[in-house]
Amino acid sequence: MNLARRTMNHPALAAVYERAWRPTLFYLASGRTTTSDRRDAVRALRLDGAQRVLDIACGPGNFTRHLSDALTDGGYAIGLDYSEPMLARAVADNAGPRVGYLRGDARVLPFADGTFDAVCCFGALYLIPDPIAATREMIRVLAPGGRIAITTSYRADSPFGAVSRVFGGRIGLRVFDDRTFPELFAASGLVDVEQDVHRLLQYVSATRPA
Ligand SMILES: C[S@@+](CC[C@H](N)C(=O)[O-])C[C@H]1O[C@@H](n2cnc3c(N)ncnc32)[C@H](O)[C@@H]1O
Repeated sequence: MNLARRTMNHPALAAVYERAWRPTLFYLASGRTTTSDRRDAVRALRLDGAQRVLDIACGPGNFTRHLSDALTDGGYAIGLDYSEPMLARAVADNAGPRVGYLRGDARVLPFADGTFDAVCCFGALYLIPDPIAATREMIRVLAPGGRIAITTSYRADSPFGAVSRVFGGRIGLRVFDDRTFPELFAASGLVDVEQDVHRLLQYVSATRPA
């Protein structure tokens, strides 16, 4: 297990992740606040009703609970992660009437095809050993008419980007170009593919045709 994955499994990180680690590192990487990322996640997934939501690599549930707050009626959000310390924090800090947490591997999802109306993965594809397999799994469990949204690393063409590539490679963080995910989404039959780049991060979303 590389340094980045070991760090994510550490109880000390789980304890500070939501309040300190994520807001600081993601602000430095993208210039965006957690509040903006949460608001735009709800918008990108078009949450407003009784939708079934799957939040892959949910960490301490810092997005899962917020996503569930946008749901009504029988809607619910499931957060899936493989780290026990992260899931323990999710249950302690981000429980709610429409939220559940599950331990699992993003590369082999324990759900039937088309189970969810919205599937997301924020800040994790660069940690997963086979990010393309994990993304294909997300698409597999997405229902017709459903929305998918990811946030991951971006190989910025700048001195800062070059440093991030070298540093990322050393600790086991993958850095993606701006074609991999839009092309994978389009090749998988998804439509309305949108991509926004903010410094070292990319935000990509799409729809599975009804
Ligand atoms: C940086 S946290 C992201 C948390 C949250 N989604 C966010 O955007 O702040 C990355 C999470 O990915 C999880 N993770 C990494 N590889 C995974 C895998 N193969 N399956 C499930 N979770 C994984 C880690 O345990 C960690 O909790």
